[in-house]
Amino acid sequence: MKKYYELHEEFWQGLIEKGHVSWDKESEKDLLLRERNSILLKYLNGRKFYNALDLGCGSGSQSFYLSSLGINCTGIDISQTAINEGKRLANKLDMHIEFVCGDACDFNLDKKFDLITDSCLLHCLVLEKDRSKFFDRIKAHLTKDGKTFIYTMITDEGVNPFDELDYFHFDKDGILWSEGPDRFDVDWTIINNKKYFPHRRVYSLEKQKEEIITNGFKILSDEVLISDDCRNKTYVAWIE
Ligand SMILES: C[S@@+](CC[C@H](N)C(=O)[O-])C[C@H]1O[C@@H](n2cnc3c(N)ncnc32)[C@H](O)[C@@H]1O
Repeated sequence: MKKYYELHEEFWQGLIEKGHVSWDKESEKDLLLRERNSILLKYLNGRKFYNALDLGCGSGSQSFYLSSLGINCTGIDISQTAINEGKRLANKLDMHIEFVCGDACDFNLDKKFDLITDSCLLHCLVLEKDRSKFFDRIKAHLTKDGKTFIYTMITDEGVNPFDELDYFHFDKDGILWSEGPDRFDVDWTIINNKKYFPHRRVYSLEKQKEEIITNGFKILSDEVLISDDCRNKTYVAWIE
């Protein structure tokens, strides 16, 4: 049986079949132009970083950006399809990224990094124990003065940040449950007579900050980004 987050392999296969090259469906030429990159650049604040680890790198949108800044970058993702696509893009863009297929909650690279980035992975980790392991792995791979960039969805307490679609159920604990095809070999949970798997975890701002601190990190600076339609909120944090 697969862990719920291993289903990302299915989502990646769907993206690639439809001709997309990244999670956000950017074109190849736009990969380095993401708005998120300019936010990351602001937090780097001109400081020199030597090697970065991009957790949940997908096909490497953020890894390519870090590499374009002269930082040696390693990207890790649970989806082999995403990693293969990253390698193909690296070849095409003539850039060097170390792409590794692995679990951000359970890996050991025997190496430390002065920068670790999360670009929308944390909200894919639903269970508290998986989220704790994610923070634990960051600690194990960060140099003494290393910094971590977090970019994750948040919501106002009890407010569903997602479209009210039939195949989603957003609960009071911030779990977005999703329906899926029977072929998904996952531990299904029955809610209102329907089969769901845990898909996303979206905390309130207070709870998200508390989780970071409880897991032993200090928040150096942070901000909340709000989408134009005011529906989606993203928490950005620079932590050590
Ligand atoms: C929302 S996508 C973001 C992808 C990429 N960071 C970006 O910004 O385009 C989340 C990524 O996390 C990966 N992922 C989910 N759970 C993971 C885990 N436990 N370990 C490593 N990667 C994971 C998914 O395969 C997916 O590529």
